[in-house]
Amino acid sequence: MYVADSNRYDSMQYRRCGKSGIKLPAVSLGLWHNFGGDDNFENSRAMLRRAFDLGISHFDLANNYGPPYGSAEETFGQILKKDFLPYRDELIISSKAGWDMWPGPYGNHGSRKYMLASLDQSLERMGLEYVDIFYHHRPDPDTPMEESLGALDTAVRSGRALYAGISAYDAKQTAQAIKIMRSLGTPCLIHQPKYSMFVREPEEGLLDVLGKKGVGSIVFSPLAQGMLSDRYLNGIPADSRAAKNFALKKKDIGEDKLAKIRALNKVAGERGQTLAEMAVAWVLRDPRVTSALVGTSKVSQVDDNVAALKNLKFADEELSKIDDILSRK
Ligand SMILES: NC(=O)c1ccc[n+]([C@@H]2O[C@H](COP(=O)([O-])OP(=O)(O)OC[C@H]3O[C@@H](n4cnc5c(N)ncnc54)[C@H](OP(=O)(O)O)[C@@H]3O)[C@@H](O)[C@H]2O)c1
Repeated sequence: MYVADSNRYDSMQYRRCGKSGIKLPAVSLGLWHNFGGDDNFENSRAMLRRAFDLGISHFDLANNYGPPYGSAEETFGQILKKDFLPYRDELIISSKAGWDMWPGPYGNHGSRKYMLASLDQSLERMGLEYVDIFYHHRPDPDTPMEESLGALDTAVRSGRALYAGISAYDAKQTAQAIKIMRSLGTPCLIHQPKYSMFVREPEEGLLDVLGKKGVGSIVFSPLAQGMLSDRYLNGIPADSRAAKNFALKKKDIGEDKLAKIRALNKVAGERGQTLAEMAVAWVLRDPRVTSALVGTSKVSQVDDNVAALKNLKFADEELSKIDDILSRK
């Protein structure tokens, strides 16, 4: 039987999510990869246990995480039942709908029909009565925003979700969504954008909107899917995400990228960190970022990513050195 580490809240840092009552761990764990039906169940279970033992109280899912679609929620449901049910009230569990999930016109995008049916399916797969956060996974230009966000409002009012969030909405869409959600009476708790040293678009307005409106943010792929770590310094390991050539492609890691990774790795070393640790610390340097949402394939990566919290401070010279490296042609 799993008994959670009694010291689990001793060293994790918790940050307030915007102006809400909820705090999230500075590092959260996402189940996009390595938790599907094709993955090793005991490895997935070991990563979740280790994460919780280290104070990671937030696990992020979506309807189509796997592969196959839905299977990460099924894996999570099984592990929840075996290990985490006594700790349900210590956990923030999220899911999302917005990408392709089932065939036909009602299994994708942003209709009320799709989003609420998808949430019911997610709850069933995870064996939950409610998720803590339900997201619209991406904006849908062909559905009125009021309809998609109205579905989030219904999810909350019906008790299937405690809070609502949005993902991948740009700054303008986000400002509009925050206004609509406020008028519906279900405020936007959180935004989930992609943000890392390699992907800096949120700096072009989105973080300003979130900061101004008091909405939190949990930033995904802070390690740029593993490129911002020592994983690819000496080639492409057979067990790496790039070797699978699916979400991260071998061609994404060209010589230009590698030169930057090597230079960043040197800066991390000078800070006494691994590059993965520095990548996590770098997104958390901005107080408008509530949590860094990492993925992992091994228990040791969970440890490494949490170890980032030992040094979150950056000197101005370090930040400009990093900017110089990133802007090299
Ligand atoms: N809202 C959205 O549209 C959206 C989109 C994508 C992701 N997400 C969420 O964000 C979560 C994280 O995304 P991500 O998995 O792309 O994040 P990431 O943390 O940038 O990348 C995770 C990968 O990096 C490698 N890695 C992690 N820690 C490492 C370490 N300490 N040292 C060396 N390598 C390390 C592992 O690769 P290997 O597998 O090669 O070991 C791991 O699978 C997802 O699980 C999901 O919950 C949301």
